[in-house]
Amino acid sequence: MNGLQLLGTGRCLPSRRVTNEDFARTLDTSDAWITERTGIRQRYFCAEGETAVSLAVGAARQALEDAGVQPGQVGLCIAATFTADRRTPALACEVQAALGLPQTTLCLDINAACTGFVAALETARCLLLGGQLAGPYALVLGAEKISSLLDFSDRSTCVLFGDGAGAAVVRLDPQAPWAAVFGTRGDGQVLHGGGPEDPYLAMDGRAVFRFAVETVPVCIRAVLDKAGLTLDAVDHLVLHQANSRIIHSIAKKLEQAPARFYENMQRYGNTSAASIPIALDEMRRAGQLCPGQTVLCAGFGAGLTWGGVLLRA
Ligand code: UT7
Repeated sequence: MNGLQLLGTGRCLPSRRVTNEDFARTLDTSDAWITERTGIRQRYFCAEGETAVSLAVGAARQALEDAGVQPGQVGLCIAATFTADRRTPALACEVQAALGLPQTTLCLDINAACTGFVAALETARCLLLGGQLAGPYALVLGAEKISSLLDFSDRSTCVLFGDGAGAAVVRLDPQAPWAAVFGTRGDGQVLHGGGPEDPYLAMDGRAVFRFAVETVPVCIRAVLDKAGLTLDAVDHLVLHQANSRIIHSIAKKLEQAPARFYENMQRYGNTSAASIPIALDEMRRAGQLCPGQTVLCAGFGAGLTWGGVLLRA
């Protein structure tokens, strides 16, 4: 079916760990509120000198090493991000320079917010299938420095997010199952930020919650239908890590045990496009994600956007 095989992963978190208790010292919030509503217990924020690029490079280096792929074999470097350090050049170009990827590598960023990594995987697959890339491997990144968009006096947003990067090295696998489903409900109000009039991230949390619980189960079923698979044929469900309650509600709608869905938002908060590749890397390094297994990844977030794809480990 010409799907993607996951050959290696990496992750990089910045150095400044901030716990819920740390927030409670300066904001009208509590560990109990944050933990009960979201599952989040701590997150990492960039310290002086740490950037979206430096996180991306750290994650990418690990992923190439894990995959046993040389920089010279990479034909595509694609970074999903909505918080790149600069508007231009693309973050992926700075990764190319730092890792010594060949000058024949296509490097680009995409912004689909928390759906970004899933969208980048589908983009990578299409470009690999197109046959015009100079190398058979794609380096797919999710890298975010969301702290640059946070209002640290707004308890309704700043406690939810974190900085970080995750990376995956993939190649085409004719035997791997594939299906991709995407959607967009254009809405500039529900979740937005980074503009001249709205420098900080702002959202209607309840509306995002409802949107996620409504669209993601339908998206997951659509991916499975397209691939001709049942949920039983999928070994792992790796969803965007925004909120544990969202994942549990999605599990309930799909009549699945919550334990089938990987969760790590307790350690990292919501790292947007980085959350799925960080999760894949944790699973792989813990021996939870084994060669030959099938993973369904699904993202959802600002746009509003959503998407789901399959991956062969
Ligand atoms: O990648 C996608 C990004 N977005 C998301 O994932 C957001 C999805 N939504 C959510 O996760 C939840 O809606 C939240 C965690 C954001 C909020 O949970 P909620 O149960 O929907 O709470 P709420 O927004 O209805 O607020 C309930 C109360 C409010 O106080 P009042 O008006 O009832 O007095 C808020 O002001 O909780 C208050 N509140 C807080 N209290 C303590 C909001 N933030 C905090 C906080 N600490 N950090």
